[in-house]
Amino acid sequence: MKYLYDAGSKGGKKLLLLHGTGGDETSLVDIARFLDGGCEILSFRGEVKEDGMNRFFKRNGLNQFDLESLEEETDNLYEEIKRVSAKKDVPLSDWVLVGYSNGANIAAHLLLERETELTQGIFFHPMSLGVHKQKFSLKDKRVWLSFGQGDPIVSPESFNELAEAFSSRNADLTIKQTNYGHQLAAEEVNQARNWLHNLPL
Ligand code: MLT
Repeated sequence: MKYLYDAGSKGGKKLLLLHGTGGDETSLVDIARFLDGGCEILSFRGEVKEDGMNRFFKRNGLNQFDLESLEEETDNLYEEIKRVSAKKDVPLSDWVLVGYSNGANIAAHLLLERETELTQGIFFHPMSLGVHKQKFSLKDKRVWLSFGQGDPIVSPESFNELAEAFSSRNADLTIKQTNYGHQLAAEEVNQARNWLHNLPL
């Protein structure tokens, strides 16, 4: 997969970025640097094309997810994360996954449905993809999720189903609700920054 890597400065947080539909590996870089000025960055570009837009898995219309593509692309992404992390000598457990929308959805799916050493995630405007096959404990995971009450794409039901998937399996969960829509709001990014800086890394 195509990716962007920046070693950042010593002691910086290690942020693994996954963009939203139509974005690319550069989309979340400014947000990442706001979250932590000296961060190390590994940012992937989704390989699925939808009318020229990059995504991390296929869909057949808004919120009509192709679950076969989801599983296949989750495995591909995880293999790439392992491969590049080994090359850059970063233990998987050091990364904080940072995803927005489609990128948040595949990242959450990776934590929920694959047993991995990835443990932290900041997920902006994610939703449940309706797949709950695994039951292993998530007690080693720390996850921060945001939800906009005026979001036309993520329904409260779908957001709550995702939050429940994490909390019922004992993940350490923080939720930030705003009155805004699907776009990132300053308020949530600020709160994510505080959360990140309080992580015991
Ligand atoms: C998007 O437009 O990216 C959706 O809201 C989320 C997704 O399709 O995974």
